[in-house]
Amino acid sequence: MSINDCYNIEDFRKLAKKKLPSPIFHYIDGGADDETTLKRNTESFAKCDLIPNILSSVGEPDLSVNVFGQKIDMPLFLSPTAMQRLYHHDGDKASARAAEKFGTFYSMSTMATSSIEEISSISDGPKLFQLYIHKDQALTDNLIDRCKSSGFKGLCLTVDTVVAGNRERDHRTGFTTPPRLTLKSLMSFAAHPTWTLNYLTHEKFKLANVAHFTKNGSSIAKGVMEYINEQYDPAMSWKDAEYCVKRWKGPFALKGLMSVEDAKKAVDIGASAIMLSNHGGRQLDGSRSPFDQLPAIVDAVGGKIEIIVDGGIRRGTHVLKALAMGATACSFGKGFLFALSAGGQKGVEMVLQRMRDEIRRDMILMGCKSIKDLDPGKIIYRQVSEQQGITLQ
Ligand code: LAC
Repeated sequence: MSINDCYNIEDFRKLAKKKLPSPIFHYIDGGADDETTLKRNTESFAKCDLIPNILSSVGEPDLSVNVFGQKIDMPLFLSPTAMQRLYHHDGDKASARAAEKFGTFYSMSTMATSSIEEISSISDGPKLFQLYIHKDQALTDNLIDRCKSSGFKGLCLTVDTVVAGNRERDHRTGFTTPPRLTLKSLMSFAAHPTWTLNYLTHEKFKLANVAHFTKNGSSIAKGVMEYINEQYDPAMSWKDAEYCVKRWKGPFALKGLMSVEDAKKAVDIGASAIMLSNHGGRQLDGSRSPFDQLPAIVDAVGGKIEIIVDGGIRRGTHVLKALAMGATACSFGKGFLFALSAGGQKGVEMVLQRMRDEIRRDMILMGCKSIKDLDPGKIIYRQVSEQQGITLQ
């Protein structure tokens, strides 16, 4: 299988599985506990059907949306994801360059392997920064201020990871950052000589934004769950979120918010967006899927705050369904990481191209000229009896 045989996210996933040592593949692919939420994120899109309008003279549909004070050319962007240098030696640089080509957001994780400054020097595209509040307040301030001076458009504060989810695949494979050679992982690294050679011959792995504050995760190998539990502040509160809004003074999202009550509070503290997300099923297993929760959130805060759906997006039709139910835009993490692993920048460009083609084609088939033509009237939820028997594609 070569990258040119990848027509959809599942194909990129299969290729990523071949190319990556197993601890790294399973770190991307996995979720928490029994991975029920991980599976449900995608399954939830199958609970409803799209109803097209015919003979709508669509021509070329306009796929642009406005989010984080920025017009982007397609309604899907790259979610922030940690340690991209592990998946491909060009890491965040590959993702940022690919997103720029498609006129959409690249998002940088606090745990990125390129720095804020490096990425802003290689890409003029729209950029978001994802913040984790560390126990060390000076580090949080430092990250916010650097994003400001480096021209990042938006800041999102992750609120669902105050303690690490139970990722049992990582326990089994012994995954650490940076990767540590153990008896368990040795075979897998040896079986992937191309990845291993690239890893060893390119820029040294480090958590570029935080390495000057802590050696953990950069020169001292740590399990990711261990890192999160040591470094992040489990006592994070609404006061901290408000502090970030005030210090940042720009488009601001809470990422990983799910309840109606919290969505209302997000409006009250002056956030401009919420990212409905359960961290790709990696945190609280058994939690609701973002798409299932969307109608209640739209009902409570629609029109008052931008709503981004992040979780389980594998197809253009998933994006259309979320937009029709009132989302402002969607983002995906695993979907583009598989492509990054499969082919670096070319892989991310290919997956964005495939997703843009799907969204464009589906818009034409739906009879929609622009995103605002997608509305709840274009969706019908199946009866519960009809829903039984839904299986993952
Ligand atoms: C994860 C964190 C680091 O999901 O975002 O692994």
